Amino acid sequence: MKKDQLILAIETSCDETAVAIIRNGNEIVANVVSSQIDSHKRFGGVVPEIASRHHVEQITIVIEEALQQGNVTFEDIDAIAVTEGPGLVGALLIGVNAAKALAFAHQKPLVGVHHIAGHIYANQLIKPMAFPLLALVVSGGHTELVYMESHGEFKVIGETRDDAAGEAYDKVARTLNLPYPGGPHIDRLAHEGKPLIDLPRAWLEEGSYDFSFSGLKSAVINTVHNAKQKGEEIDPQTLAASFQASVIDVLVTKTKRAVKEYNVKQLLLAGGVAANKGLRAALEDAFSDNADVELVIPPLSLCTDNAAMIGAAASVLFNKGKRATMSLNANPGLDLEV
Ligand code: KG4
Ligand code: ZN
Repeated sequence: MKKDQLILAIETSCDETAVAIIRNGNEIVANVVSSQIDSHKRFGGVVPEIASRHHVEQITIVIEEALQQGNVTFEDIDAIAVTEGPGLVGALLIGVNAAKALAFAHQKPLVGVHHIAGHIYANQLIKPMAFPLLALVVSGGHTELVYMESHGEFKVIGETRDDAAGEAYDKVARTLNLPYPGGPHIDRLAHEGKPLIDLPRAWLEEGSYDFSFSGLKSAVINTVHNAKQKGEEIDPQTLAASFQASVIDVLVTKTKRAVKEYNVKQLLLAGGVAANKGLRAALEDAFSDNADVELVIPPLSLCTDNAAMIGAAASVLFNKGKRATMSLNANPGLDLEV
């Protein structure tokens, strides 16, 4: 009988210190996420230096906690995986160095993982992947439509030309004086209001799968400023609902078109903005009568940053024989396609 494969994975690319243990690439044995959100809230966004300091303080504790939660020792672990990029360089470095130290001390293979590959592979913890597939990746730093012909092969068919979807959510939230991260707050308000304000939708050139959210973000900010100058009150629920309607309209319309053109078997949703209730409902609605494509949406805890997704993606690399050396470095501009 084939022995189970256990991978210990580390994720520190932004403001979550996370460690997970994944069995055979698709089963969560342990999943620990230590969030720093409270430390960044008063600055209205992630402060890189503070993020790095928190990772240093938390990483050993979180590794210990994951081993305890999974009732696993290093003897049972087959490989150590870590997010090598993209992300904040100082934050990534803490994870990369911790992973290297563990791999060296326990003589285990080391696997470097792309953060977005991780977000996509969060779906493998829910359902086996069926190729070809398309992933809609919507996070704080990325908005991408990714086509996959087979495991570990990523082709970016569309991406944002300016702000990522999550970034737009966070900036709009800031304009409405909502706490960081603003996505969940806008999502909540949007459900309490109606999309009565006509906001722009950036469709870009005919046939393009790229996105652009900065025009929409500016339109929201202008609407708020103009109202203020006239001494008028803007209803935050109406504004949130109108903003969310524009984002979802563009994301869902382009995704639907890509699913058709590329004739895929599955559509995966990935990234922090995948936690958005409006987007989840709109995608479910758009694909409910399409029996040819299976829509997979991970639970909220696997949408935002975590290490379970890194472990799932690492398993594929590990099985393909991919190994990192001790010269592995944090790479904030790491490319998904290579
Ligand atoms: O994937 P993630 O945890 O970190 C990155 O890799 O960027 O995504 C974080 C982003 C933040 O911009 C946050 O506001 C957004 O995901 N987000 C949401 C929701 N929950 C988190 N955006 C919209 N609606 C939500 N419910
Ligand atoms: Zn992320």
